[in-house]
Amino acid sequence: MRAITYSEFGGADVLELTDQPDPHIGPDTVVVRVKAASVNPVDWKIREGRLQGLIDVQLPAIPGWDVAGVVEQVGLDTPEFRAGDEVYGYVRKDTVQGGTFAELVAAPVRTLARKPASLSFEEAAAVPLAGLTAYEAIQRSGVKAGQTVLVHAAAGGVGAFAVQIARALGARVIGTASEANHEFLRGLGAEPVTYGDGLADRVRAIAPGGVDVALDFAGGGSVAVSAELLADGGAITSIADPTARTEHGGQYVWVRPSVSGLDALTALFDAGQLSVEIAEVFDLAEAAAAHRASATGHTRGKLVVRV
Ligand SMILES: NC(=O)c1ccc[n+]([C@@H]2O[C@H](COP(=O)([O-])OP(=O)(O)OC[C@H]3O[C@@H](n4cnc5c(N)ncnc54)[C@H](OP(=O)(O)O)[C@@H]3O)[C@@H](O)[C@H]2O)c1
Repeated sequence: MRAITYSEFGGADVLELTDQPDPHIGPDTVVVRVKAASVNPVDWKIREGRLQGLIDVQLPAIPGWDVAGVVEQVGLDTPEFRAGDEVYGYVRKDTVQGGTFAELVAAPVRTLARKPASLSFEEAAAVPLAGLTAYEAIQRSGVKAGQTVLVHAAAGGVGAFAVQIARALGARVIGTASEANHEFLRGLGAEPVTYGDGLADRVRAIAPGGVDVALDFAGGGSVAVSAELLADGGAITSIADPTARTEHGGQYVWVRPSVSGLDALTALFDAGQLSVEIAEVFDLAEAAAAHRASATGHTRGKLVVRV
């Protein structure tokens, strides 16, 4: 099969289109014919070697954790799926090696669910990692109707899903983004504010009573600013800054594969409460350009790779 691989850590130039053996099928895995994958910031952070010690990488590695495709072959004990099923998933395994930037991927059944019928393969591939992160962060923060939720990096991959999920739960959402993304955020149902110096004052101006939940998807100083803005009993959840937990009594979320989480996202798509924003679609051979685009830190929604 053809796949994107890298044999050393480094810049996007280490990514090459190569021929690789087809993946082995384990007893609890299925082989998926990949239609599309998507890029997450973690992909280029791993490729740069920045997460060594946290995540094992076996070189040469095929990057990519998000997939949408069709089950081609089933393992010995995989009653959940049959050949021909259209699936999507966050194919996170213990080691980064056999990723989704490939024509075929072996996916443990614990990472996959049926693709939402209303989504194309390219849209579905944009969902799993970012959508599950948003869903888990919101679930674990206990977001409820009537609460005010502050979402940092609301226009990004995780943020755009979180805004919509919190709105679907009946929360008021304030989202941070640069001005170029304010109209986009209004379309998702959020009240936009510009991040950077003076952010706390801008949020206070529209939410004088403070925020009940702060969701930090930006890192940097967002957790510290959030701490100033919490209403009594409010809580911070971050996916980018562990001090939310260690210094502010909140939570740090590291997204796990979750079939029930994917099914919950599917239900939101089916109910018309969730949509996917795709900034750009790249061909598999353009994986390096897709990684570079993600590394700018200014993607609106998601970057997709068509296989
Ligand atoms: N712990 C986990 O499980 C987990 C899971 C997923 C992601 N993450 C991490 O969470 C972060 C976000 O992930 P993502 O996939 O959403 O990334 P992304 O799609 O690349 O995020 C891009 C967005 O960030 C916004 N942004 C950039 N700097 C900002 C700032 N200082 N304040 C507010 N917004 C800012 C940009 O808005 P403008 O263009 O308007 O500037 C853009 O819309 C990354 O660091 C990623 O590695 C962690």
